Amino acid sequence: MSKVIETLQKTNLGTRQMLDDPYARFADLRANQPVSWATAPGLLQGKGGYLLTRYDDVMTVHSDERYSTDVLKNSPAGKFIWLLPPSLRMLAQTMVFKDDPDHKRLRTLVHKAFTPKLVATMATDVAKIADQLADEVAAKREVDLVHAYAVRLPLAVIATMLGVADEDRDMFHTLVEKMGTQQGSALRQYPTARRLAKLFEALIEDRRIEPDEGLISELVRANEGGDRLSHRELVSMVFLLLLAGHDTTANLIGSSVLALIEHPDQLELLRTRPELLDTTAVEELLRFTSPVADGAARFATEDTEIRGIPIPRGSQVLGSITSANRDEDHFDNPDALDLTRKPNRHLAFAFGIHYCLGHQLARLEGRTALATLIERFPNWELAAPRESLHYKPTVSLRGLTTLPTRMY
Ligand code: HEM
Repeated sequence: MSKVIETLQKTNLGTRQMLDDPYARFADLRANQPVSWATAPGLLQGKGGYLLTRYDDVMTVHSDERYSTDVLKNSPAGKFIWLLPPSLRMLAQTMVFKDDPDHKRLRTLVHKAFTPKLVATMATDVAKIADQLADEVAAKREVDLVHAYAVRLPLAVIATMLGVADEDRDMFHTLVEKMGTQQGSALRQYPTARRLAKLFEALIEDRRIEPDEGLISELVRANEGGDRLSHRELVSMVFLLLLAGHDTTANLIGSSVLALIEHPDQLELLRTRPELLDTTAVEELLRFTSPVADGAARFATEDTEIRGIPIPRGSQVLGSITSANRDEDHFDNPDALDLTRKPNRHLAFAFGIHYCLGHQLARLEGRTALATLIERFPNWELAAPRESLHYKPTVSLRGLTTLPTRMY
């Protein structure tokens, strides 16, 4: 370990304290040592990396091209990628882990399919799904809102967008949930990833034979100057949309419901002014909950420096979105939940070339999920002591494991 790293404060992002309530630690680091050192189980290749806690620095690593997300190119493990079975190799080769120009090529092609117009056409479906799930919530006295609602809504939305047949939905849900619980272990994930890849291949094949107006047909059709997505890129893109789109949105919905239960004045405000969901409320909930806690680690591709701390070439750098979204230099009273906050330039969807491709869909789902619950249930209560609630042990994504509630 270099002399400089030895002098830096160390934070293990995977401790129960950091998962459940990291805010005091991040505030202290922002004030006293904005560039420090993080370790995280299953992240940063077990070696640790520089931890950035200030808003401006997180923006810098997300937008300065000297910081790369390309794990295969920058990490020694990348040389052995060919050892992985194709369905797992695909997950490491999505555009999140590519720099320009490879990233730009994939993003341009998917952009032709995943358009704001396509997302807008989903509004009715999303409302219908939210309403059906709310019926099930209403039928129970007590419910774990994470599993009964927050997780199922984005999964049903993406299944609808991909055109997964009704009879395959249960299998699809089971496989996706299984992938989630197997996170961090490529070997355990392999059989599940393979079955999902097979399902996607069949969907793509069907749409090649019989195109429609849906997302997969648009991805098959997407064409830029004669360039198209290869078959493998298509499967990998569908995987990415599924994996990037469901846990993240589920985290937003689950954490937002808890935040509102804990801030009854803000919940009351939403009941009296539901139109805030279309303007400032979801933005504030995105800032306040940061469903993606830090995004992908970046690799320094040359010797750089942040706030006078040398970052040697090859080091990994993690920008904490959770911390940036509470930076007092950018947000007044950052620990307060203020559903009317404006301006609110949060980094929940990151910044720069990897800015969330699904942000419109995520906003639509977040808005509809909360509007439905507010409309259907005048009373929201926790059905378990607050201290029994915990966040999942996934360091890069932040979401509740369960949320026992009474909604009536
Ligand atoms: C509340 C929900 C969501 C949040 C907070 C979120 C957040 C993020 C963040 C922070 C990144 C950048 C990661 C990085 O730079 O390391 C990202 C990328 C991405 N997101 Fe989202 N996301 C959400 C929902 C969705 C949805 C619904 C989809 C699509 C179905 C989606 C698709 C993507 C894709 C494809 C990327 C990669 C973009 C690229 O590399 O150019 N996300 N998201």
